Amino acid sequence: MTARTIVVKIGGSTLGSGDTTFEDLVALQRAGARPVVVHGGGKVITEWLERSQLPTRFVRGLRVTDEPALCVVTAVLAGLVNKELVAKVQALGGKAIGLCGVDGALVQVHQRDPELGFVGDVTGFNLDILRIILDAGYLPIVAPIGLDEHGQHYNINADTVAGGLALAVRADDLIFLTDVPGIRDGSGQVVTQLSRDDVEMLIAEGVIASGMIPKTQACLCALGALQEAQIVDGRVPHALLASAKGEAAGTRIVRG
Ligand SMILES: Nc1ncnc2c1ncn2[C@@H]1O[C@H](COP(=O)(O)OP(=O)(O)OP(=O)(O)O)[C@@H](O)[C@H]1O
Ligand SMILES: [Mg+2]
Repeated sequence: MTARTIVVKIGGSTLGSGDTTFEDLVALQRAGARPVVVHGGGKVITEWLERSQLPTRFVRGLRVTDEPALCVVTAVLAGLVNKELVAKVQALGGKAIGLCGVDGALVQVHQRDPELGFVGDVTGFNLDILRIILDAGYLPIVAPIGLDEHGQHYNINADTVAGGLALAVRADDLIFLTDVPGIRDGSGQVVTQLSRDDVEMLIAEGVIASGMIPKTQACLCALGALQEAQIVDGRVPHALLASAKGEAAGTRIVRG
């Protein structure tokens, strides 16, 4: 476990469920590992968009992020959610720094499609700030907001950021904590292992759908550097520690 770089995506769906993820992060840090957290915030964002009375518009099934929505998304993700996570790690005696992809131009993006508004596609990473944080012994907690070359910021999918970062930092592990026991096949059974071809087939068949699509695609992207990526149930106590030890239930997406 020593000095392993472990990229962990914490799903917004599992946030705030009183889980043990923060204890596990601190334990990993104490054991000498270098965890990097990327978080989502889907449910909290929806709640705050509703509170702000901003109607959600969809174009071809995708949520449009107009300027008022971007304000809420940025405030909630880079502010509220990010600081809650940092505070939890600090309260447990860990050392964490919260930032978003705008800071130090960590996550570079361009606009996906003007019709979708401020939704970014990742074009690259500037790892300087991440290395500084890790070398100083802190755990970076990254909110998925990216920056384009004109100084505009965008909302990005957190899974894509996690997969891209894992590849860019040549991470040793990539772990997605989510709110299901793993990836289900056509019969509803959780599968323990999937290859690239299996994943592509399940997506084509519509078995892997909605939020699981960017997650599995992020795994495939990271397989350029990693042997495997894991999708595990973040609601299970100490799921993260078990995953880091290679002992977790859930689904492994493996090379080949
Ligand atoms: N084949 C599948 N197996 C398991 N879950 C699936 C599958 N296809 C779609 N899903 C859905 O994917 C969801 C997980 O993705 P979702 O985006 O909702 O959560 P998250 O990424 O953990 O959180 P956030 O998006 O807030 O960061 C599951 O709750 C499930 O409904
Ligand atoms: Mg998601």
